Amino acid sequence: KSISDLGDLRGKKVLLRSDLNVPLDGSRITDDGRVRASVPTIQELTKAGARVVVVAHLGRPKGEPEAKYSLEPVVSRLSELLGQDVKFASDTVGDSAREVVESLGNGDVALLENLRFNAGETSKDDAERREFAQQLADLADVFVSDGFGVVHRKQASVYDVAELLPSAMGGLVQAEVDVLQRLTDEPQRPYAVVLGGAKVADKLAVIENLMKTADRLLIGGGMVFTFLKAEGHEVGKSLLDDEQLETVKGYIAKAKETGVEIVLPVDVVVAPEFAADKGSEVVAVDAIPADQMGLDIGPESAKLYASKLTDCKTVFWNGPMGAFEMEPFAAGTKAVAQALVEATENGALTVVGGGDSAAAVRQLGFADEQFGHISTGGGASLEYLEGKNLPGIEVLG
Ligand code: 3PG
Repeated sequence: KSISDLGDLRGKKVLLRSDLNVPLDGSRITDDGRVRASVPTIQELTKAGARVVVVAHLGRPKGEPEAKYSLEPVVSRLSELLGQDVKFASDTVGDSAREVVESLGNGDVALLENLRFNAGETSKDDAERREFAQQLADLADVFVSDGFGVVHRKQASVYDVAELLPSAMGGLVQAEVDVLQRLTDEPQRPYAVVLGGAKVADKLAVIENLMKTADRLLIGGGMVFTFLKAEGHEVGKSLLDDEQLETVKGYIAKAKETGVEIVLPVDVVVAPEFAADKGSEVVAVDAIPADQMGLDIGPESAKLYASKLTDCKTVFWNGPMGAFEMEPFAAGTKAVAQALVEATENGALTVVGGGDSAAAVRQLGFADEQFGHISTGGGASLEYLEGKNLPGIEVLG
């Protein structure tokens, strides 16, 4: 169901789940992509005359208030982007929330404090979660699910509340699903997937699944070293997940059998420690010194990766190639971003998945419009590609 299926929303209180989980430096938002992405649905609702009650989480507080996880810094950015005053309630439920919700006129917007300040939101206990969801449901007439980044979470504001109120999918979730579907259902070929990030264990399921659909799998980030070790290289002090070595060897063998090309770096940028100012050098992957750690793919690898991407018709990218936050280790991520831009210009569908990857490309000076789609979901988009059922989407029927 979409918002139009909810009927006339004039004067109705709409509980809107958005994903406003933005990176903060103190109270400064360092990447407002998710706030911007939440705006069209809010505006669709305000134009329809609804009273919009936005609920969201920030970070992972432990079920009680913690000042550093307050959503307050988001209120002013949201007000600016909407061009209207957004009211803020200091709790998600209880008197403060009720008062703010009751004060809304048609077309007004309120943001309630971090959902995860309440243990019920993320509880594994169905009854506890349900009780909190009921409190949320009591605030509104209908529910709209638009927080794509959290649809893989079975949480009160994502899942349970949808069973308690007439519910619909917001335009952002719809748009994200439409794009990801194009990657899973007969993608145009060649189809390459670039996977970075630190933990192989987190990406294993998605790697296994992607080997069934993608033609090329380009590996970057800290994960690289478990792959290099599996290929027989010494990796010095680099990140290594010993426990996954056998599984990774299995994937490499399977890829050879099925004709999927796994692309690994041929050179890496190493440094004595995880720091920008301790000196760095480029070495071949078979010459990583024992006292150094790899922190980015090297220039030859960057060229190789670009050549594997620019002729593609479909590209999905999740996870930076190196420690891009530090200048000496940013070139690999930049080169991959640039290759995606070129692929986009050549007519490919390019998708950047994940809050971190999205923040990385913006921080490196790229604009959203240079890519086919920048997903607001990290874990959510990977789980979609893994072929998992996403509770927040399933529940909407
Ligand atoms: C994200 O940042 O991927 C989403 O906001 C979900 O957050 P979570 O991983 O803390 O549930």
